[in-house]
Amino acid sequence: MFDELSLNILDIGMNSLAAGARRIEVSVVESARHNWLVIRVRDDGRGMDAATLKRILSRNASTKTTRKKSVGLGLALLRQTAEMCGGRFQIRSAPGQGTSVTASMRYAHVDRPPLGDLVATIHALAANPAVDVRLRYRSDEGTFHFSSQEGKHHEPRRTQTPEGKSAAAGCAA
Ligand SMILES: Nc1ncnc2c1ncn2[C@@H]1O[C@H](COP(=O)(O)OP(=O)(O)OP(=O)(O)O)[C@@H](O)[C@H]1O
Ligand SMILES: [Mg+2]
Repeated sequence: MFDELSLNILDIGMNSLAAGARRIEVSVVESARHNWLVIRVRDDGRGMDAATLKRILSRNASTKTTRKKSVGLGLALLRQTAEMCGGRFQIRSAPGQGTSVTASMRYAHVDRPPLGDLVATIHALAANPAVDVRLRYRSDEGTFHFSSQEGKHHEPRRTQTPEGKSAAAGCAA
């Protein structure tokens, strides 16, 4: 298991890069008030067909903590963390349609790793300037957006915005 969730996100984002993604959207919503932390990594890479997805998910289920490189650990580790911390793990993918990986966990769960340095993860994923890596981070205090291509930071806003509402709905998907 990783010490910090930003390292899980780095790993999931590396899968997106390996799948030829040109755009990776990382969304992190954490709410102490509602006791949830939800991570989503969505890409426009080559995606996976249903059979591949099923195979990967069933392997995840059986790998537990054994360290066999051939099995693949990135998805399994995030899934394990989510399920251990009272949340759920979901992958949606289709060939040519990209992939979306969502992991939720209880914010206050005793085993939940800290978030770590999200911006460092985004910068690491954005080493190739042709890839646009976007971050949307939302907490009880407000929302923060970052795009590697625009190179812009937007400082926190109040959460009671129309966008804030749709962001919450998106993360439940
Ligand atoms: N975003 C994605 N797009 C397309 N295929 C993916 C994506 N994420 C994962 N996969 C497929 O699922 C497999 C398992 O991913 P996982 O991260 O668990 O292991 P890995 O990348 O093979 O190895 P590791 O992460 O341990 O280096 C990948 O090898 C790849 O075939
Ligand atoms: Mg991986």
